[in-house]
Parts: sequence; structure tokens; C-alpha cells
Amino acid sequence: MKRQKPLIKTLLKHESDQRPVWMMRQAGRYLPEYRKIRGKAGSFLDLCYSPELAEEVTLQPLRRFDLDAAILFADILLIPHALGQSVSFREGDGPVLDPVRDDASVARLSMTDLQARLQPVFETVDRLSNSVPSNVALIGFCGAPWTVATYMIEGGTSRDRKMVRRAAWEALNAPENWFNRLMDLLVESSTDYLVNQVRAGAEVLQIFETWALDLPDVLFRKYCIDPIRRIVEGVRETYPEIPIIGFPRGAGYFAGAFCEQVKVNGLGCDWGVDLGSVDKATNGKYVLQGNLDPLCLLVGGRGLVDEVHNIVRMSVRGRHIFNLGHGILPETPVENVELMLRSLRMAEQEE
Ligand code: CP3
Repeated sequence: MKRQKPLIKTLLKHESDQRPVWMMRQAGRYLPEYRKIRGKAGSFLDLCYSPELAEEVTLQPLRRFDLDAAILFADILLIPHALGQSVSFREGDGPVLDPVRDDASVARLSMTDLQARLQPVFETVDRLSNSVPSNVALIGFCGAPWTVATYMIEGGTSRDRKMVRRAAWEALNAPENWFNRLMDLLVESSTDYLVNQVRAGAEVLQIFETWALDLPDVLFRKYCIDPIRRIVEGVRETYPEIPIIGFPRGAGYFAGAFCEQVKVNGLGCDWGVDLGSVDKATNGKYVLQGNLDPLCLLVGGRGLVDEVHNIVRMSVRGRHIFNLGHGILPETPVENVELMLRSLRMAEQEE
């Protein structure tokens, strides 16, 4: 019988093998081999839409490190792009989008060409499903509607993200508001996107809610929990068994409500919480993923070794996936990743 991959086994059955490990944003600028391909590809979007190159950069971190997952190389902003919004990535400034802020700009978005535009991404997944090593799980992903809407409305990376939060409060007063239509469109398109990723070969899904930390309770329930719950339910209509990890960054003590209502298998945790407390608050019902501070990884040394031990002590073997609390930073030395992985195996032996 084929042995189940450690990441999938942990997410589905809570079995107490070695802790699976992978890193958010593990394919990227901290790797010289990534920068080389990025230079050849033209724009960042060209790279995302070139199945052969996207496959290659997805596999790069696995050639260096013993990781349990490959995450599809793509971006959460491919959805707005496929809906017809103009999206570009400028060197040094991050993403730039032509903002959506009213009825007319939402009306211009459309799902008509969604499948066709995202076809290259499904092709990347299909290629990867034949090329990832046999013990490595292939993760597909999307951004959660609130986070994607944040970039769509702010027009890119914004320091205070006030426009989107204001739009959300206004929409609470007026159900017909354009913001609610935008969120519905994101739920529907993200559900389709994930279903097609699974159809092409993704074995685990992660939903990135990077800006969950902006939301007070009422908005958190309506614009983080509810849309993600609808996506998860929608995907499970077609693929009832697919393991799903939610990552509501900074959700803190809302994390329990999030897990209960969204019915994810795994909860991604940032470094603002300790895994022991989250495990207690959720009665040991969920697999927790995280939560090394990417800056600790960047700095390395004794502090890194100690922190890896701490995380292992705080978490429960069998329901922990070792990861960072957010994406790896471009300045991170590759040797520090090796030290992190060695420390993890040492810490587990000492358990
Ligand atoms: O290795 C992987 O994780 C796979 C691919 C991946 C990328 N982005 C590639 C990328 C994934 C899973 C993402 C998710 C993503 N994209 C998120 C959620 C996670 C998080 O970090 O909060 C968000 C908010 C985005 C939007 C985005 N994409 C921003 C704000 C930026 C610019 C800032 C930055 O981090 O670089 C990007 C660009 C981006 N996405 C790069 C990569 C490798 C760098 C682009 C380059 O090579 O020039």
C-alpha cells in the first residue's frame, strides 16, 4: 500500500509521526536560483503564468531542503487579474492595482474569462503533481476574500488599510453596497479556483488571510469567517475530503471561533500567540501550523535554535506542522534554514 504523505496524514488523522515542516513563501527571493529564473521570466506575472518556470521555482526549495510540502508558485492577486482588474508588480514597490472603489468598478469585473486566464496555473499544478517527490504534499492556495479585497480597494500595499475597513463598515449598513458584491464575487471565483487546483492535482489547500488582524469582532465574523466558510463548503461539495489550512494572521483570540465555523483541518498561527494556549483554547481539536518569527530565522544563531525548541515544547506532536508565522524574508541566509531544520530534528529527539 502507498504510504500516506506526512503532511496529509497529520492533517487528516492527527497521527504522531515526525512533525511535517514547510515554509510559507518558501520559493522566492532568498534563493539565488529563484532570482536567476525571475530575471529570465520578464515580469512576476509572466513567471506565474509560465507553467514550466513556475513548476521549476516551486521545486527549487525541495532540492535544497528536506521539506514535507511544495506550495504552488502563483500569487493571491491572480484572482483580481483574472477578474479583469489591472495588476502589476513593480520592483521594490510590491503590487500596484487600478483600485476598485464603487459600483462601476465592481461592475467591470467579470468571471467570464476566469478559467481561461487561470489555465496556466492549473497546468503548473498538473505538471507538479507528476514531479513532486513521493513523500511531499502539493499545496494549492488562494487569498481569502478580505485580504484580496484589501489589495483591490487600496490599490496595492497600503500602510493603514483604512479604505477597505471603511468600505466594510459602510457595507454593513447597506446590503446592496458594492463591497458586498465584490466579496460575493471573490467567494465564487476563489471557490472555482481552488476546485480546479484540486482537480489538477493539489492535495492540500491553504487560504491566506494576511489582513485578518485589521478586523474587529463584528467585521471578523462577517468578512473573514463567513466568506472563508462559504469557500470551504463550496470546495467540499466537490472534494469532501480535501485537507484545508486556514491562516487568519493575527486573529489571536478569535482563532477558536474561526476554526469552529470554518471547519478547517489546520490553523496557521503567527508568532503573536503561543501554540500551547491556542491548543488549549481549541480543546486540542485542530492541527496547528507555525509559528517561528521570520525575523528570528533571518537573524539565526542561538536564538533560532532555542526558539525552534520552544515551539516544539509548546506544541503537541501529531497535531503540529512546523512552519513560520508569516512568509520567509528575502534577506534570509540559506544556512539559517538548514540550521532551523537541524534544530527541529534535534528538538524532536529530545522529546
Ligand atoms: O513560495 C510560495 O509561498 C509560493 C508562492 C506565493 C507568492 N505569494 C509568491 C510571490 C504565495 C503563496 C504568495 C501569497 C501572497 N501574495 C500573500 C499571502 C501571504 C503573505 O505573505 O501575506 C500576499 C499578501 C500576496 C500579495 C503579494 N505578492 C505582495 C504584497 C507581494 C509584494 C511583496 C513581497 O512579499 O514580495 C507579492 C509578490 C510576490 N509573491 C513575490 C513572490 C515570490 C515576490 C515577487 C518577485 O519575485 O519580485
